[in-house]
Amino acid sequence: MKQVLTGTALAAVLALGSGNALASVKVGFMLPYSGTYAALGQAIENGFKLYVQEQGGKLAGQDLEYFQVDDESNPSKAPDNANRLIKRDQVDILVGTVHSGVAMALAKAAKDSDTTLIIPNAGADTITGPLCSKNIFRTSFSNWQPSYAMGPVAVEKGYKTAVTVTWNYAAGKEAIAGFKESFEKQGGKVIKELTLPFPNVEFQPLLTEVASLKPDAVFTFFAGGGAVKFVQDYAASGLGKSVALLSSGFMTDGTLKAQGEAAQGLFTTLHYADGLNTPRDNAFRANYSKSYPAMQPDVYAVQGYDAAQLLGAGLKAVNGDVSKKEDMRSAMSAATIDSPRGPFTLSKAGNPIQDIYLRQVKGEQNLSQGVAIKALADPARGCRL
Ligand code: PHB
Repeated sequence: MKQVLTGTALAAVLALGSGNALASVKVGFMLPYSGTYAALGQAIENGFKLYVQEQGGKLAGQDLEYFQVDDESNPSKAPDNANRLIKRDQVDILVGTVHSGVAMALAKAAKDSDTTLIIPNAGADTITGPLCSKNIFRTSFSNWQPSYAMGPVAVEKGYKTAVTVTWNYAAGKEAIAGFKESFEKQGGKVIKELTLPFPNVEFQPLLTEVASLKPDAVFTFFAGGGAVKFVQDYAASGLGKSVALLSSGFMTDGTLKAQGEAAQGLFTTLHYADGLNTPRDNAFRANYSKSYPAMQPDVYAVQGYDAAQLLGAGLKAVNGDVSKKEDMRSAMSAATIDSPRGPFTLSKAGNPIQDIYLRQVKGEQNLSQGVAIKALADPARGCRL
């Protein structure tokens, strides 16, 4: 009987015919495609695919096959979701995720199955701390990094007391700890730490408490849909006139169109900014806008783009043969990534050593005000490699 080959089967036969015996590299995206972080997950995937497209649709000559799981930023579903990609789809590479709690479960599943994991956002300090591992890489940040950079900025602006407000989960807690460490080291004082459960957005009682505490500044960690609402509620409360609102840059990245007037003038610290005006960043932004006209390039797109660059560096070293895991991972650890944010290398724990920018919101841009801390490395407390 004559067989008709379609899709993947046909591609495999054609690949064999051309003398390339390697199957496509299976890449599993575990990202939030729904919920408060949905736009972040989409931007990461867009960025990843943009880099692959710029390389002619392949990495190191290899075709890629994509698999997707919507993790919903739900840690309780994370072990099952990770195993869908690892066991059912048998992916070679995991790319995920946004939420730190989900990422910790994903990191464990990656470690148990010896799958290479590239984290394109989630900052959980523990992943490049006590849980660090040679198969785990991050192209984003540790939660400590961008927030640590805001402490000295706040002191320089003359703020002596601060109240912190965040979601009560790893990313929020670690971001606040990073800010508190550097702010108090320079003589500032965090007088109260307020939280609400993730991903709740009932901010009013917390803002009332801030008003009664009368600090010089508020420092927050919020992102995605929740950040849009927080900035709007803060402006509506009138607090902005007497209490400066400071944050890591997630609060205003990918959110400015929705935040509008409420975000104008806000200062944040992050490893990416608008207006860098380097040839590398300008080229990235032009290509991103061409491929995704409805979206503005943001930090999440950059982190996804760099995840593909890091994978490309690993695949290149093994001529596309993902079965050579150790050689691929050594090349990834040693890579210098030519990121739109500026070039970076990875620490021994696998986390970017990178400049953190001070940015200020103007219109729909987080305009760079210069580098707040140069080549900031996460302390990787507890990592033994
Ligand atoms: C995190 O959970 O680690 C996280 C989520 C969203 C961000 C940054 C960090 O924008």
